[in-house]
Amino acid sequence: MAAKPPRVKYACDECGYESPRWLGRCPSCGSWNSMREVQAAPVSPRGGLAPGRRSAAGQPAPEPVRLSQVDPTDDARFPTGVGEFDRVLGGGLVPGSVVLVGGDPGVGKSTLLLQAGDHFARAHGDVLYVSAEESLRQVALRARRLGLDDTPLRLIAETDVDAAVDAALHVRPKLMIVDSIQAVSTADADSVPGSLVQVRECAARLIRLAKLEGIAVLMVGHVTKQGSLAGPKVLEHAVDAVLYLEGERDTQFRVMRAVKNRFGSTDEIGIFEMGDAGLRDVANPSALFLQERAAGEPGTVVVAGVEGSRSLLVEVQALVGPAPFGGTPRRQVSGVDYQRAAIVLAVLERRCGMPLHTHDVYINAVGGVRLDEPAADLAVALAVASAFRDRPVDAGTVVFGEVGLTGEVRGVRQAERRAREAAKLGFRRCILPRSNVPPGAAAADIQFFGVSTVVDALRAVEAGSA
Ligand SMILES: Nc1ncnc2c1ncn2[C@@H]1O[C@H](COP(=O)(O)OP(=O)(O)OP(=O)(O)O)[C@@H](O)[C@H]1O
Ligand SMILES: [Mg+2]
Repeated sequence: MAAKPPRVKYACDECGYESPRWLGRCPSCGSWNSMREVQAAPVSPRGGLAPGRRSAAGQPAPEPVRLSQVDPTDDARFPTGVGEFDRVLGGGLVPGSVVLVGGDPGVGKSTLLLQAGDHFARAHGDVLYVSAEESLRQVALRARRLGLDDTPLRLIAETDVDAAVDAALHVRPKLMIVDSIQAVSTADADSVPGSLVQVRECAARLIRLAKLEGIAVLMVGHVTKQGSLAGPKVLEHAVDAVLYLEGERDTQFRVMRAVKNRFGSTDEIGIFEMGDAGLRDVANPSALFLQERAAGEPGTVVVAGVEGSRSLLVEVQALVGPAPFGGTPRRQVSGVDYQRAAIVLAVLERRCGMPLHTHDVYINAVGGVRLDEPAADLAVALAVASAFRDRPVDAGTVVFGEVGLTGEVRGVRQAERRAREAAKLGFRRCILPRSNVPPGAAAADIQFFGVSTVVDALRAVEAGSA
């Protein structure tokens, strides 16, 4: 079939707006009598592009290669020097990658990026920090507080993204930090900074800069009241990694997780402690989480959890008290999954004969971590039972296991890793799913109590406390 003859269309001299018919005034830029006739590209029968068509820049169409010809080892990584941040990134920053760091106001995003930028500049070369929210003085003040007065990092206070891109093209840094994407804008988009159009357009420019020049870009993003990143969803699709810095306002712990990472696992979490000198890596979070533990009190049990490649011991606390007569009993759960906790309470009620429907129940995982994995179920069950009976669980006991609807205790992954971490921190008894008891357990410095049901587990607890 022959190609159709070229069509005629009209384009505005001033702004390039195209229209299929002639117009006296351009609807896009408002200029009068600016529409000129142009030849549209010939349309081929295959639905658009004529063979031999050249791409927009006048270059021939790119030649596809075979995957086997691509060297995947090209991606060098540059560690930022902030260990926990690198862990979540998957080992460090990849040149040309774009990473979005989100978090609530005041959680410590600027602090973290200033610290990471400083380390990076000392280890790998130029870093450009674009502060769009704070003046140079404010950033300098923070740097002084963090003990980074003599940082080699280069700083500009700029809200115009195009000026920031120009600065980057001039400095040619290895890393560019933009704080924040909601505070920068471009004169080319006709809306206020922080609007969807502005955020999308500014991010597109920064992503283009990163990809074309091989500069790693770290962008700060604000989160909405609902806890998701403010701005268009397309932003999360366009960047290479999306990380969240989270933390309770009144605790010093901060947890970083990846919701997307093109260069690493999204299972890893980073744990920081916020202090006068900024965010500090927490190398041994289990010890820290347990340091203020009220061992020997009813209602506290330690669970051996796993987050990414790290095992984590966390104290689960429960408080149970009679509910006001005639009222709905209260259920307050923080740090563990609410739905899973509800199942555990129902199992305790039906299978273990505890009348929890007449009691208020409060459950909390200490330290601001979230235990979403099913392995925390058994610890929740034993903490609630301990609180209900007002009898403490032996302080040297650690627990893990998933609880099913019939009250069975099911095996979980990485049992040995969990037990090893617990033994390292001085725990001597481990209540775990029977199917998870490692062979040759007798030789280990921790004693295993394999259980098949929650009732079994309660018996094992009694035996240990006796
Ligand atoms: N003088 C100080 N001493 C100790 N800690 C401080 C001091 N000033 C600020 N901080 C800590 O730093 C936190 C603010 O950090 P930062 O400015 O990095 O947060 P942010 O996430 O960038 O906030 P924003 O969303 O407002 O930009 C405060 O919540 C506080 O915990
Ligand atoms: Mg900030």
